[in-house]
Amino acid sequence: MAFKTIIEPFRIKSVEQIKMTTEQQRRRMIEAAGYNIFELRSEDVIIDLLTDSGTGAMSSNQWGGIMRGDESYAGSPSFFHFRDSVTDIMGFEHLIPTHQGRAAERILFSVMCTPGDVVPNNSHFDTTRANCEFTGAMALDLPSPELANMGSDYPFKGDMDVDGLKAAFAEHGAQRIPLVMLTVTNNSGGGQPVSMANVRAVAEVCRANGTPLYLDACRITENAYLIKQREPEFATTTVRRIVREMCDLADGCTMSAKKDAIVNIGGFLATRDPEVAQKQRELLILTEGFVTYGGLAGRDLEALAIGMQEAVDEDYLNYRIASTRYLGQHLRDAGIPIMWPPGGHAIYLDARGFAPHIEPTRFPGVSIAAATYIAGGVRACEIGSLMFGHRDEETGEEVAGPRELVRLAIPRRTYTQSHIEYVVEVVTQVFEERERLPGYRIVEQPPFLRHFSARLAQIA
Ligand code: F0G
Repeated sequence: MAFKTIIEPFRIKSVEQIKMTTEQQRRRMIEAAGYNIFELRSEDVIIDLLTDSGTGAMSSNQWGGIMRGDESYAGSPSFFHFRDSVTDIMGFEHLIPTHQGRAAERILFSVMCTPGDVVPNNSHFDTTRANCEFTGAMALDLPSPELANMGSDYPFKGDMDVDGLKAAFAEHGAQRIPLVMLTVTNNSGGGQPVSMANVRAVAEVCRANGTPLYLDACRITENAYLIKQREPEFATTTVRRIVREMCDLADGCTMSAKKDAIVNIGGFLATRDPEVAQKQRELLILTEGFVTYGGLAGRDLEALAIGMQEAVDEDYLNYRIASTRYLGQHLRDAGIPIMWPPGGHAIYLDARGFAPHIEPTRFPGVSIAAATYIAGGVRACEIGSLMFGHRDEETGEEVAGPRELVRLAIPRRTYTQSHIEYVVEVVTQVFEERERLPGYRIVEQPPFLRHFSARLAQIA
């Protein structure tokens, strides 16, 4: 008999105390932080949904691996354990450990790109875009047109626009496109999954042009589980096989293991091409470390090797995806506009729909994130005009970004059902009182990546 409650498929062996705070204290702390959630101390946060990256809870097996980690400079057994585990799941031959995802990106683009090149992606994550552009190449986003329709039921809004990709090859020519990337799931695109049909179609365009396809694979096992749930052809296929099929269609990947591989630090770069791998290793040694440890300790490689296997466990993924969906479903039932359907790692609030009385240049997402913190100590992240807008240097006017979202990212295996129910209550309360949400203005900002350190004030 199947019961309807999907339980956390783990028991808790060690706990971390949460410091409880009052609304009055939090009002003071967010004001002192210049209404910027990055400036808060994490111990002043009750439920931290800032990111799912590096914030997951490792298993007792992973902690056991931490003790077994071998710290030899060269040829450590922990490297071979890491390599065999990743190759078992993904099938790529050449594996290069890095300290996190962006180090893999830097090496990949440094080896493959030259100034004037174009790198298409369904949506570049911000570090991916920055590393690509740092080589002088152009980072081209080609999201599915379905992504614009936030509330629709379309199951694979993370897809790449295949016609857009063909048009990019026609416009720039294959010689100017050294690689194509596909980010699974599409984090900058509302955490939405990419369908296998889309991976196949993108791979076919790449093959026709003789261009390698790389996956940005941080959340590939969550993407694979969503393929199993939403793409009828895969309803009875194992997640392992789905992940392998996605990888078989690609020539390599970058990976931030801080996401699906449930480690606190770690990543890798994978490729099938021995010549490319050789060049990548040369760069690795220059800045990350020797080829059998990259930027990691042996113990980190052990935890990563074990985490990769846990990440394809379907009982775990069933719980993981259900818990994200639970949050999304309940917020939607309360009338709150969100990116629909829920993806794997986060729920994205539509800040424009939530607080339509606040103009984008007055930061509705900042207002919602500040109110959510004040109401219940829940830390969410604005992905809107503070992050992607800018101030026009000539006029001094704010220029809005392309969208106004607030991300509630769910760390893996860290919070329980009652934590999630609490988040639903907090966000719902903020929504019920949304007419009182103030707009904000920036009083201090750095020239780059302003969202990390800008200070804001409420507009009366
Ligand atoms: N690619 C994607 C799709 C990501 O989401 C991230 C990180 C990276 C690459 C870079 O990996 O942080 O290990 O260097 N995303 C985090 C987030 C920071 O909060 O979404 P990294």
